[in-house]
Amino acid sequence: MMRRWGMSTTLIHDQHASERKTGAVAQPIVPAVAYSFGNLEAAADTVAGKRDGIYYGRYGNSTLRALEEKMAVLEHGEAALCVGSGMAAISTALFSVLQNGDHLIVTKDVYGGTYHFLTTLAARCGITYSLVDCTNVENIVEAMQPNTKAVYIETPSNPMLTILDIEAIAQVTKHYQIPLIADNTFMSPYLQKPLDLGVDIVIHSATKYLNGHGDVVAGAIVANAERIQFMRQQIMGDLGQVLSAWDAFLILRGMKTLSVRMERHCSNAEQIAAFLEAHPMVDKVYYPGLQSHPQYEIAQKHMNGMGGIVSFEVKGGGEAAKSFLDALQLAMISFSLGDPETLVQHPATMTHSSIPEAEREAAGITDGLIRLSAGLEDIEDILEDLTQAFEQVNHTERSAYAWAK
Ligand SMILES: Cc1ncc(COP(=O)(O)O)c(C=O)c1O
Repeated sequence: MMRRWGMSTTLIHDQHASERKTGAVAQPIVPAVAYSFGNLEAAADTVAGKRDGIYYGRYGNSTLRALEEKMAVLEHGEAALCVGSGMAAISTALFSVLQNGDHLIVTKDVYGGTYHFLTTLAARCGITYSLVDCTNVENIVEAMQPNTKAVYIETPSNPMLTILDIEAIAQVTKHYQIPLIADNTFMSPYLQKPLDLGVDIVIHSATKYLNGHGDVVAGAIVANAERIQFMRQQIMGDLGQVLSAWDAFLILRGMKTLSVRMERHCSNAEQIAAFLEAHPMVDKVYYPGLQSHPQYEIAQKHMNGMGGIVSFEVKGGGEAAKSFLDALQLAMISFSLGDPETLVQHPATMTHSSIPEAEREAAGITDGLIRLSAGLEDIEDILEDLTQAFEQVNHTERSAYAWAK
């Protein structure tokens, strides 16, 4: 038997290539919506799921299937479903395990869009949830209700970079015989494989590191074949969340360089975190690679690299954060992350603005908090940009002080 390839090789090649008709090295884009069959029995068996195949574009296309096969291999899962956005992946995964009357336990500092889904659409469907501090597994046990049907985590979390002990949480969910769902967006399969740690369903916003070039919105779900089949047939098809062949191609192309990109994102982020930790205008830095991070040990155990996201709190609160962000010249103010460009954002007024102030503050998302996604630029240029922006804040504060006197 052939040795299992390393991650970088797997990202570039297909060990189980299903499509070798043309000999093309790059993945062919197949935009066909209609697929034909040699006879009626083949068509009927395919639609019934008795025979593998694609029959209509709303349930997938062959470029998308190539991406799904790759995602399953990379995450060490049985099967994958790729959809039109990270939120489509999250809602599909949650709707696959929850229905009217069910309850969900959710890690407390979850992505703002997930929170919005739980408080609006899921609530309309009669699904309830509890936000729980999952850094202590006892809290999860205490929050269990007779109708709790799943636990949903995000580690590292957005934007606080909280790290959860996936293995310990998986022991609890296995005991209660309910699925554990993990958002692995911040890590990508290159840095963390939640299924190996006991998770049942992994989701990604493929918009971020997987595609890596800021030009596609997409999502991915990896789980066992039965669950994926249910999501494809019963949820994605009905809600119409399919990803186009063109976008699937772009993600496959982007993923070829995932390993080299992640190495650079990590090394830039590490240096930015060290710079910020030593800066007199910074109150706190949240980065799992810093020894000051409360879950440093767990991060070392579960993650093959500490990721490209650094969050930090500037001294002077919201006003100082605003002056700092406005003064940046290289880093761009943007909602996304995981792109070649260094991107910064203000969670309190941008990604997490839908969370009420009290809940936001309780989760540590203060007005002075900034999230930075380290890009692939030369580190010296990023650090110089941060330095000059801090000097601008200093200057603004000094002018305000002189004026007030
Ligand atoms: C951790 C995390 N999960 C999910 C999403 C949603 O992804 P998308 O924007 O592709 O729907 C995001 C978006 O920022 C995210 O940061």
